[in-house]
Amino acid sequence: MIVGHTDWSMIANRARAETFVRHIERHAEIGSTNDRALELAADRELPTPALVMTAAQSSGRGRSANVWRSSEGALTFSLVVERPLRLPAERVSIVSLFAGLAMRRSIAALLPHSRVQVKWPNDVYVNGRKVCGILAEIPSSAADRIVLGVGINVNNSLADAPADVRERAISMAEAAGGPFEIGEVFVGALIALEQELSRADENGQLSTEEWSRHCFLSGRTVQLRTSLETVIGYCVGVTESGELRLQTETGEQMHKSGEIVAF
Ligand code: BTN
Repeated sequence: MIVGHTDWSMIANRARAETFVRHIERHAEIGSTNDRALELAADRELPTPALVMTAAQSSGRGRSANVWRSSEGALTFSLVVERPLRLPAERVSIVSLFAGLAMRRSIAALLPHSRVQVKWPNDVYVNGRKVCGILAEIPSSAADRIVLGVGINVNNSLADAPADVRERAISMAEAAGGPFEIGEVFVGALIALEQELSRADENGQLSTEEWSRHCFLSGRTVQLRTSLETVIGYCVGVTESGELRLQTETGEQMHKSGEIVAF
């Protein structure tokens, strides 16, 4: 489902006027907003949060070297933000979980009749299918900054996507049975990100209560592939530090990173 013309210049104006964003770079088309944001982050004069937005991304990247497909009607952007003061470098990956909670909340506000959940580490699922992914990266040139790349299936059609993607993904329009005003989704997402990043700044601890209320994996037996091994365990939520809690045959394990390969 694609709605008619999207006025990206007006949307950028709204982002400037209504959100915490202090610098905006808008592209009609770009390879990857994350790649551009990583370049921008090297500039010490860059006012942050800095936003890179585009109507069309030709080489979008996902986690684990996956491709991120985004056809017309999708929302794709990246933010360069300063690392929250309370978070030491080794805990910085938790920022992507804060961002996941923020995206869940903003999407849920627009889909009151759908089940909107967060899937560790930072995907958002609607009615059991993925609607939003986040790619958080530390710029090699600026370790005190973070790039948060967000892709949301808003009004885009998944009809041309490969069969496996069609089965696992959903757009907000599909869930609601009608299109959304992209500016509304965008501004809501940025406001939620601001709120959640300021929580990260306040105490660096994730709300395990909010996460467990909306956790897609809790109560499921999952397979987690880490750099060392593949672990099978029953998910019981996350810790305040953002680790996945798995009950395994040998007891409870906490995992800071890894990829869920089956659930
Ligand atoms: C994932 O689910 O694996 C993460 C997907 C992240 C996609 C977004 S789209 C905007 C930004 N630019 C990119 O190249 N990737 C992120």
